[in-house]
Order: sequence, then C-alpha cells, then structure tokens
Amino acid sequence: MLQLWHSCNLGPSAAEGFSTDILELFTFSLPFFDRKGLILAFDDEKPVGFVHAGFAPTADLSGLDYRQGTLAALMVLPAYRRKGIGSQLVRLAEQYLAEKGAAVVEAGGGREKNGFYVGMYGGLQPSGFSESSAAWDTFFSRLGYSPGSRTIVVRRDLFKSRDPVNARLIRNRRQVNLVITDRPSGQPWWWFVRFGHLDSLRFELEERASRKIVASGQIIGMDVFIPKWGVRSVGIRDVFVPESERRHGYALALVLEICRRLRDEAVQLIEAHVDAESQGGLDLFTSANFEPVEHLLTFRRTLSGS
Ligand SMILES: CC(C)(COP(=O)(O)OP(=O)(O)OC[C@H]1O[C@@H](n2cnc3c(N)ncnc32)[C@H](O)[C@@H]1OP(=O)(O)O)[C@@H](O)C(=O)NCCC(=O)NCCS
Repeated sequence: MLQLWHSCNLGPSAAEGFSTDILELFTFSLPFFDRKGLILAFDDEKPVGFVHAGFAPTADLSGLDYRQGTLAALMVLPAYRRKGIGSQLVRLAEQYLAEKGAAVVEAGGGREKNGFYVGMYGGLQPSGFSESSAAWDTFFSRLGYSPGSRTIVVRRDLFKSRDPVNARLIRNRRQVNLVITDRPSGQPWWWFVRFGHLDSLRFELEERASRKIVASGQIIGMDVFIPKWGVRSVGIRDVFVPESERRHGYALALVLEICRRLRDEAVQLIEAHVDAESQGGLDLFTSANFEPVEHLLTFRRTLSGS
C-alpha cells in the first residue's frame, strides 16, 4: 500500500516520503479500522489499486454513524487506469457499506467526516479528494454520484507575506491578550481519533479588561508533509467567536496573532480549510493574506435498496 500511495500521482494534497509506521498509526491502528472496508485490486500478485471505505461520525461525535458511508481513499496505478478498475473498486466498497447499513455514501469523506488518513492527505485534514489529481467529476458522475461539498484550501507563506495593518487591528491588539493553552481540552472522541496523535495547541483571545474569551481556535501540526513540501507547516481550525462578540474583528486578530507566534517558531506555511459556501470564512482568511491553493471535493450517492 505504501508503494501504491507513492506511485499513484496523488497530487499536491498527499504527503509523500513517509514509512509504513505512518500508515499504521494514522489508519490501521484506529479503533474503527475494519479490514473488510479496505479493498485491494491485484494483477496476479501485484497490488494495482485500492479503495478504503469507512463511516462518518454520529451527530454528537461519540461514535460512527453506520448509515453514512464514506470512501476515504481511492487510487489506481497510472498504467492500470481506464480499464474499469476504479469503478469496480467503488462498487465493491458500496457493497461493503450497504452490508453494514449505509444508506448514503460520500466519496472523499468531507470536512469533518473522514476518520482515516488524517495528517497524510488533504493537508490539515482530508476534507475531500484533491480536484487537480483526477477527473473526479466525470468518474463519479458515471457511477451515479452527484457533487457534494467543496472545500477551499487556503494557505499563507509566513516568510513571504506581511501582516495587514489597520486601525481596528491595532486597537484590538491593545485590548486583548493571546492565551495559549496546552492541548485542546474537552474535545469529543472523534477529535481524539483524528487529531490525538498530532501536535496541537489551543489559542484564545482574551479581552484584558473583562477577562472574557472573545475568540478561540486550534492549530494542528502537519509534520508528515515536511518531506514533500520541505517546510514546516501547521493547520489552523475551529476558529470560533461567541455570537455576542462577532463583527469586532476578533477572528482576524486571532488568526494574525497565531501567524505571528508561528513565524517566531520558524513555521513557514499555515493552512486552513474553508467551506466554499462560507463567504465569511473565505473573507476572514483572505483578510489575513491567505490565498486559495486547492479545492477538495466530495461526491454523494444514495445506495439502492435504502
Ligand atoms: C480516479 C481513478 C481512481 C480512476 O481509476 P480508473 O481505474 O482509471 O477508473 P475507470 O477505468 O473505472 O474509469 C471509469 C470512467 O471514469 C472516467 N474517467 C476516469 N479517468 C478519467 C480521465 N483521466 N479523464 C477523463 N475521464 C476519466 C471515464 O468516463 C471512465 O470511463 P471510460 O474509460 O470508459 O471512458 C484514478 O484516476 C486515480 O487513481 N487517480 C488518482 C487518485 C487520487 O488522487 N486519490 C486521492 C485520494 S486517496
């Protein structure tokens, strides 16, 4: 599988240059890994492709929802493409998912729905299949799927771009403190199975006068990507501003403070995943000088008989 991963031209969103330990730690060792959901295609004795099916989490993020199937990975060696192997793998994965009770399947998983390959694919998290790596639209529409979610990967090179400056940012900087707590606490099971083995920190912006938390977020280390990108990179996620504190520029102040701290730690790239439908999310990161670099897509299909 390690050789397949490195021979399938998975594009810019896939880590490369890692050992089998990473596959073991980030996928096979997970408590919900089921070998029956991992289906390989062989030419005689040679593995030529695989699909990996799994499940999205329940709404309370405490377990798996077996009604919602996912295709976490799918790849076929370039020399074996356009022979129907990818399609056959998808059909076998659907059969496995239906047997376990799935009513729908989402290829690519989705922003918070993919339990496997976190830290190895998609950058910060495997929010979907990288648009630039395959003819996904044609491939999945032939199999009866409709377009699902589109996630925009935004990135900022901290060594190249400068921080924006304006009066509101300066005022906010005077009025708030950045508090760095250790690991994010109080997270649900689904967070720990996905991010628990990666470096993480929680950041909070605290209003000096009232000691109120006006914004929070977390960062996740993306060390498995170092061999491929040659630089240290970190993902920022879960940026949150309480309803009563919105429209004061606190989210932007938080993101910029995090950028500043990470630059001091010699981190060069910082990344975030934004729902393409979320204009607010996009505006936030664009204002912090992030640029869109990739789209991660999912495709959905209702399974027959459900
Ligand atoms: C997507 C992928 C799995 C398709 O595998 P495949 O074995 O070639 O798929 P199939 O032969 O079943 O293709 C079925 C249909 O999809 C469409 N299709 C597949 N590849 C296509 C391409 N490059 N261009 C246009 N259409 C394509 C065609 O309609 C094809 O039917 P046809 O050959 O009769 O025209 C393969 O291209 C791949 O491995 N890409 C990289 C995977 C990747 O990046 N994975 C990342 C997540 S882990």
